[in-house]
Amino acid sequence: MCVSKVGRLVVLVSGSGTNLQALLDASADPSYGARVVAVGADREGIEGLVRASKAGIPTFVEKVDDYATRAEWDVAVAARISAYAPDLVVSAGFMKILGKPTLQAAPLLNTHPALLPSFPGAHGVRDALAHGVKVTGCTVMLADEGVDTGPIVAQEAVPVLPDDDEAVLHERIKTVERRLLVEIVGRMAREGWTVSGRSVRIGNHTGGEST
Ligand code: GRF
Repeated sequence: MCVSKVGRLVVLVSGSGTNLQALLDASADPSYGARVVAVGADREGIEGLVRASKAGIPTFVEKVDDYATRAEWDVAVAARISAYAPDLVVSAGFMKILGKPTLQAAPLLNTHPALLPSFPGAHGVRDALAHGVKVTGCTVMLADEGVDTGPIVAQEAVPVLPDDDEAVLHERIKTVERRLLVEIVGRMAREGWTVSGRSVRIGNHTGGEST
């Protein structure tokens, strides 16, 4: 079991970074309990990096193609993250699976636009729509070495409406996802959290804290 609090966040992005923006906006209030100290990406020229720069947050980019092996890329990403001594790394629309070096650098929180364990992977919204589900949603989970297989921290349901296409449904999910991510990261920061096996609990600690 581990019990820890969250203060310093490193956020990883691959795209538009609206989840990052939600965290940046929330952490402008010191009572939120956590702040973004760096933003990392696996590609250049994305809106997420622009958002970070506008907020005055340091950024880094590590591209898989710049390394001979995926394992070397993973070590490089882990080194970049460790330099900021984060309490929590948030993968907010980061479209790469991270390996052991990164997972060992700090706890990694991930967000996914479906109700896991249904529809894991890069096309969670498309796959849910194709299956014909009437309810989908979003999941905030701790990452492990699998594809969206880590212990679940929080989930929220979102209805699928008759005329939805992937883009419309994803936007409806993202509205909920941003709020849930901000709420969960803030609570982890303020109340501490524990993980025991697959069970994640925020707050309600009886003992002292360790990392
Ligand atoms: C989110 O729905 C995330 O779960 C998925 O990609 C989206 C990223 O959105 N993996 P943004 O870049 O935060 O706007």
